[in-house]
Amino acid sequence: MTTTPKPKARAAARRPPSAVRVMSVTSGKGGVGKTNVVANLAIGLAGLGQRVLIWDADLGLANIDVLLGLKPEYNIQHLLSGEKTLKEILVEGPHGIKVMPASSGIQELANLGESQKLGLLTELDEFDEALDFLLIDTGAGISSNVMYFNLAAQDRIVVVTPEPTSITDAYALIKVMATKYQRKRFMILPNQVNGEGEAKAVFKLLASVADKHLDSISMSYLGFIPRDERMIKAVRQQKAVLDAYPTAESSRSFVSLAKAILRTPNGASLDGGVRFMWKRLLRI
Ligand SMILES: Nc1ncnc2c1ncn2[C@@H]1O[C@H](COP(=O)(O)OP(=O)(O)OP(=O)(O)O)[C@@H](O)[C@H]1O
Ligand SMILES: [Mg+2]
Repeated sequence: MTTTPKPKARAAARRPPSAVRVMSVTSGKGGVGKTNVVANLAIGLAGLGQRVLIWDADLGLANIDVLLGLKPEYNIQHLLSGEKTLKEILVEGPHGIKVMPASSGIQELANLGESQKLGLLTELDEFDEALDFLLIDTGAGISSNVMYFNLAAQDRIVVVTPEPTSITDAYALIKVMATKYQRKRFMILPNQVNGEGEAKAVFKLLASVADKHLDSISMSYLGFIPRDERMIKAVRQQKAVLDAYPTAESSRSFVSLAKAILRTPNGASLDGGVRFMWKRLLRI
């Protein structure tokens, strides 16, 4: 005897696996350039026809809305309390990029009731199809808030500068992710470097220490972003360098970075997508 599936089950079966790539941009040390990387990578990806949502998960002060000159009215708290819908809390940034403004933390997500969690998932599900990338700007370090988002993402881009403290803190973050949370894949992005030689030296140093002390770690080199005065100037104008100075050296490397990321395999249908990330975040 065959049974007719319920309408909800039929809809779920029809839906293709999520292809949204969820990537966190993170670092051990603060102030290394994460927020700038997120903003410019988002613009680079948008220029390549990708639909991008930025989730500002950094609870610090230098947030993505400040960098992009946006003025968000609401944040995720309003979504969780049911006062606003997802569409209402999102802010439109340059090039059609959507921004989810920062809120006080992830703890409130974990504290939601089951029906609230499921309601949220349904709303996010609808959004899933209108998106190619979700970039998460995390805070620095190894606090539980940062870890939450890094665990929920499929890919982690670790931003690191040539400063010794930045390299040791990046290693500390990678070590905790690998040993405590079994996350073994990392994309490394040297920033504020003097050129390719320095970028590769930073990568090699990090990779060799990780290889020596951690089991089955995989680190990929994503290219690099040079130290560039125009990036500092753009920040002062509350603009991403890619918009303020499109021909600057750093702007060109952000375009290359976006292309490099598009070339990497999309594992979203296997272990990712927005729904999967939310399930992990909400611990369903
Ligand atoms: N490639 C670069 N060239 C020159 N200056 C840079 C570069 N990248 C970042 N900076 C400078 O570093 C500052 C900090 O960058 P950003 O706010 O993106 O770091 P962050 O890692 O997000 O910091 P936080 O940990 O506080 O969130 C920028 O305002 C800019 O002045
Ligand atoms: Mg930041």
